[in-house]
Amino acid sequence: MFTPLTMRPRVLSGIQPSGNLHIGNYLGALKNWVAMQHGYECVFCIVDLHAITVYQKPEELRAKILEIAALFLASGIDPKLSSMVVQSMVPAHAELAWLLTCVTPVGWLYRMTQFKAKTESMEGSSIGDGLLQYPVLMAADILLYQAAVVPVGEDQAQHLELARDIAQRFNSLYGDTFVMPATSLPSVGARVMGLDDPTKKMSKSEKGSGHAIALLDAPADMRKKIMRATTDSNPHIDFETMGPGVANLLSIFQAISEWPDDQMKNHFSGMRYGDFKKQVANAVAEHLEPFQQRYNQIRQEPGYLESVLREGAGRVSPIANSTVRTVKQRMGIYTE
Ligand code: TYM
Repeated sequence: MFTPLTMRPRVLSGIQPSGNLHIGNYLGALKNWVAMQHGYECVFCIVDLHAITVYQKPEELRAKILEIAALFLASGIDPKLSSMVVQSMVPAHAELAWLLTCVTPVGWLYRMTQFKAKTESMEGSSIGDGLLQYPVLMAADILLYQAAVVPVGEDQAQHLELARDIAQRFNSLYGDTFVMPATSLPSVGARVMGLDDPTKKMSKSEKGSGHAIALLDAPADMRKKIMRATTDSNPHIDFETMGPGVANLLSIFQAISEWPDDQMKNHFSGMRYGDFKKQVANAVAEHLEPFQQRYNQIRQEPGYLESVLREGAGRVSPIANSTVRTVKQRMGIYTE
C-alpha cells in the first residue's frame, strides 16, 4: 500500500520554523534524530504549515525555514541517509489533514493541553481554527509516511496519542490502513525547563533573555545564562533534596555528556553551585561551538540548502501521494 524507500522501519518528526531553536529542541528531538538515522528510514520535516497557525511575517518565515534546514544539517542530519522536507512543498500533508479532520471528533481537539495553554489568554473571536486543527495536521504528517516511530520531546506526547486515536478510528471505519506510530522520548532531556523559571518548559515563544539557550547564541551569552540560572537555597548539590533548577541543569549536562547516573552522582554530589554551573556552561558551549561552525559553513554555500530540500520533497512525494490515494479510495472519493 505504501512504497518503502528501504527495508528499515520509518521514522518521522518535525520542528516548527518559528522562534529560535533552543537546547530543549536539540536535546529533546534533534540529537535523537541524528542517532536514529542509521537504524531507520527517516523523514524530518520543517513544519511551516504548523507555524502559520499563528501569524508569521512572510519574509521572516521564509528565512526561518532555511535557518532550520541549516540547523538540521549542523546537528548531523545527513541528507544522503534522511529526507529533509518542508511540509508545504508536499501538498499531500494538507490534503490528508483534511481527510483526517473528517474522522476526528472536535471534543478530542478541545481536550489538548497545548491548545488550552495557547488560547488561555485569547478572546474566542481571535482563536484561529488552525490552532484547534493543529494536532490533526500533525497526525497527517506522521500517518502519511506510515511512520513506525516518532522521536519527540515530552510536550508532544499527548499529540502523539491523538494521532494513534485518529489512526485507529480511521482503521475501524474504513479498514486497516495506517500503521500505529510509537512515541520515542529521550531518557534524559525530554523536558528541558526554562533557566529563569525551572517550573516552566523551555519554549521558543518565551521572550525573557535568561529563559532559553538558543542554538545560535554566542558562547559567551550561553555561559552567562547558565551562570545566572535559577537554583535553590542549598549551598551545594544534594541529589536527595535538590530543587527543579539544579535537576534541570544536571539533566542538560547528562544529555550532552551521556554520562550514566552513577557517574553523575559521583562527580557532582556535594559540588558548590558556582563550580557546578561552570562545568555545565563549559559542556554546553564546547558542544555547540563546532555545531555553530558547521552552521556557518553551510550558510555560505549558495543554493545548497534549497537543493537538499527539493531533493527531500522529491524523494518522499511518491510515498505521500500513494497514502493519500489509498485513503481517498477507502473513503469512496475520487482519486484523479
Ligand atoms: P516544536 O517545534 O515546538 O518542537 C520541536 C521538538 O522539540 C521538542 N521540544 C522540547 N524537548 C525538550 N524540552 C523542551 N523544552 C522542548 N521544547 C520543544 C518538541 O517536543 C519537538 O519534538 N507539533 C510539533 C511539530 C510537529 C511534529 C509533527 C512533531 C509537527 N508535525 C509530526 C512530530 C511529528 C512542534 O510544535 O514541535
